[in-house]
Formats: sequence, structure tokens, C-alpha cells
Amino acid sequence: MAASDDILQVKELSKSFDKLQAVDGISFNLETKKVTILIGPNGSGKTTLVNLISGFYKPDGGDVFYKSKRITGWAPHKVYRAGIARTFQVPALFSKLNVLENVLVAEKQNPGEGFLRAPLKQLWKRPEENSTERAARILELLGLSGQWEKQANTLSGGQMKLLEIGRALMSGADLLLLDEPISGVNPTLAHEIFNTIVRLSKELGVTFLIIEHRLDIALGYVDSVIAMAYGKLISSGSPEAVISDPRVIEAYLGA
Ligand SMILES: Nc1ncnc2c1ncn2[C@@H]1O[C@H](COP(=O)(O)OP(=O)(O)O)[C@@H](O)[C@H]1O
Ligand SMILES: [Mg+2]
Repeated sequence: MAASDDILQVKELSKSFDKLQAVDGISFNLETKKVTILIGPNGSGKTTLVNLISGFYKPDGGDVFYKSKRITGWAPHKVYRAGIARTFQVPALFSKLNVLENVLVAEKQNPGEGFLRAPLKQLWKRPEENSTERAARILELLGLSGQWEKQANTLSGGQMKLLEIGRALMSGADLLLLDEPISGVNPTLAHEIFNTIVRLSKELGVTFLIIEHRLDIALGYVDSVIAMAYGKLISSGSPEAVISDPRVIEAYLGA
């Protein structure tokens, strides 16, 4: 795999909380436009890893490169403005705003024109398109076209997750880090969300790293899997290879 195909490179990333080594020398690359899930038993360090990449925690050691630029230790807003957006286990929405407004506000929050944003704009923004049109296109891709005027706090849990993804897209992000996007979502909608994620990666060229433990639903949709246990990467590769890896089976059975 050529380095130029990798949107993200994580090298020997580490983070401890007091004596607990939450992330312990993790290295991996993410190939552009691919959908990867990050799995591992509870407490294995998945959320901490996403917090390190997105700038919410500063690593004790190691490096993160986004499009070959070193972004290690950057503040969250700077990482976000560069083009990496994340969602949370509990969706972070403006509950009193409607669906369309929630998406529009995401663009206003992110007026940056940094050097890293130039390629995003070519990928995403049609020159003749205004913000509302672009928001409408995103909502259509997410299957939320009929929900424009609904106040965010009246949406179902699954729709909130989709709207959060929409906000990330509107920000211009081309790398999305999702923390358990189908947690608490019924199986039908969970499949729909993964279908949508695959469609976004194909149609918009967006790359996804998704923390997800519902493998029965997620595995059929993803290009690759990264498995963690006790802060370490224990396996990575195709879904078939990772779930049949004895180290992964042991980590799950032992948990
Ligand atoms: N801010 C923090 N302060 C102290 N310990 C933390 C903090 N965040 C996470 N941890 C600990 O780090 C370990 C990994 O947590 P986490 O990354 O949330 O795991 P996962 O997302 O895989 O369930 C856990 O033992 C957790 O208790
Ligand atoms: Mg977690």
C-alpha cells in the first residue's frame, strides 16, 4: 500500500492515566476512502485512541500524521478545522435547533481556510452551490430530507446519530471518527446507518474510523478491522482475518 493512499498514520501512540496504560504503543494506517472499525473489549482503549487522534487528549508519546502532516498534540478545534471530525457516544447536537439549522451551524463554526482545507473544498464544494444547498445535499444522502424542520431533540436516537454525521460532513471533514454510531439503535436502523456510511465513503470519498462492538451488524459493511486489547493493537486486516485471529478470539472470550 503506497503511503500516499493513507489519509492517517498513527505511530507508536501512547497515553497513560496514572499507572494505567490506556493506549500502549499503537501504530496503524488508514487508507483513504475506506471504512475501518475499531473493536476490542470494554476498557481496551478505543475511545482514548480516538481522543488522542482528535486532540482531546495529548499523547505521552508517538505521532499522528494526517495527509502526511504531523498533527500530534494539536488542539481539538485545530484538528477539526484541518478536516478530522468526530462524533460522540452521546450525540452532541443543538437540541433546540432544527435539523437543517444543526447542519448549517456546523459550517459557520468552521470558517478556517487553512492549507489543509484546500483539497477538501475541491472534493466537496460545488462552486455554484450555497450553504443551504450543500446542507440539503448532505441531508438527502443521510436520508433525512423529510426531517428538515424537526427540532433535533425530537429525533430518534438513530436519526440523531445520522445528523451528527451530517454536521461533521458540513464542517468539510474528510476523515470521520465515530464512537459507537449504532449504540442503542434498533437493528433495522443500525443496518441503515452502516449502509449510509458506506454510501458516504463511496460517493463523497470520506474515510471512516468507527468504534463499534456490534460485529454482527458492522462486519458486513467494512473494508478493514483494527482490534485492541489492554491498550495494544492485537490484530488488523480484513474482517475475515481479524475475527478468526486467535488473539482476537482470546481477547473477547477472556473479557
Ligand atoms: N480521562 C480518564 N481518566 C482516567 N482513566 C481513563 C480516562 N479515560 C479512560 N480511562 C481509562 O482508560 C481505559 C481505556 O478506556 P477507554 O479508552 O474508554 O476504553 P474503551 O473505549 O475501549 O472502552 C479504561 O480503563 C478507562 O477507565
Ligand atoms: Mg469507549
